[in-house]
Amino acid sequence: QELELELEALEKGGYEHFMLKEIHEQPRSIANCMRGRIHAEEARINLGGISEYANKFLQAQRIIIVSCGTSWHAGLVGEYLIEEYARIPVEVEYASEFRYRNPIIGKDDIVIAISQSGETADTMAAVELAKKAGATIFGICNVVGSSIPRLSHAGMYTHAGPEIGVASTKAFTAQVTALSLLALYIAKHKGSLPSSRIATLLAELQKTPDLITSCLKSEPLVQLIASEIKDSTNCLFLGRGINFPVALEGALKLKEISYIHAEGYPAAEMKHGPIALIDEQMPVVVIATKDSSYEKIISNIQEVKARKGKIIAIVTEGDTVIRDIADYIIEIPFCEEALTPILATIPLQLLSYHIAVMRGCNVDQPRNLAKSVTVE
Ligand code: G6P
Repeated sequence: QELELELEALEKGGYEHFMLKEIHEQPRSIANCMRGRIHAEEARINLGGISEYANKFLQAQRIIIVSCGTSWHAGLVGEYLIEEYARIPVEVEYASEFRYRNPIIGKDDIVIAISQSGETADTMAAVELAKKAGATIFGICNVVGSSIPRLSHAGMYTHAGPEIGVASTKAFTAQVTALSLLALYIAKHKGSLPSSRIATLLAELQKTPDLITSCLKSEPLVQLIASEIKDSTNCLFLGRGINFPVALEGALKLKEISYIHAEGYPAAEMKHGPIALIDEQMPVVVIATKDSSYEKIISNIQEVKARKGKIIAIVTEGDTVIRDIADYIIEIPFCEEALTPILATIPLQLLSYHIAVMRGCNVDQPRNLAKSVTVE
């Protein structure tokens, strides 16, 4: 027993929980996901697992992404990236819904299955169904040699390393990184984005490990905010555009490990319902970085403040406007809009983690949840 405990402490590398270790590992896991794949100056992306099927992507009329949980959120970010850069229509489906819906799938469709474990039963069943219908299956998985990569025609590993904490952290940011690479790869081969722009985006992507390191420095501030809101019974997460899925992921993380009811919403939809919930008891976490939705998100923050909600805003370094309106701001470095999901996720992971620890929850093994759901 003692030996087992010592072994576990060793595996946690000095961190109190696997989840915290995995959050802090992200500069390295993202670097590992990109390793050998980027040649920024030549605007070239090297994806070994796609070569035979590259033409399928160029001809595809449609891409369907199937996944569950956190991987589904990565899929939603992927939808923005692929539509924006590669100009191919994307649909993102819960694997569990897709498989039972008699979906319309054709030979020219590409189905991307995203799964950390590569073993999720619903995602596997969706893949099998799509494969039978003649679609090309592209797997984005973390566990090497798992079932989904073996069922897929082509794919790429996220190389985030083993993820032990039940709540997914480093696997998510690696999935988003992999999807960015895939979107740029297709864009390059289709010619839907100028090479110079691809080169810039790749160079920016290569900076993300360092930018994540700087996001992690907000931890003491995040801890302070966590102590302020830890007794809340509800929490709202708002984002727009490519950061809407980040709001969903922030809410999922909080409910999974702290058991606080949390909802993620596109900020503009707030007025169609959730705004009725806002009072002085309600913390509202807003992703409000300087991107194309910036002005609009400021109006959304003002709407929340007018109803006395408590605003915690994730902002771009140096933002002075939101500083004056929000109750708390957490800064992340400036980056390309397409890369903000990777950075904005980091403080949200830390926030959930510290709230859960303060509430005495079992962070690495939350009640009723499993790391890999291999049954229906
Ligand atoms: C479970 C895990 C989640 C994960 C989801 C999908 O619910 O607790 O963290 O996002 O399964 O898992 P997958 O391995 O397919 O990404």
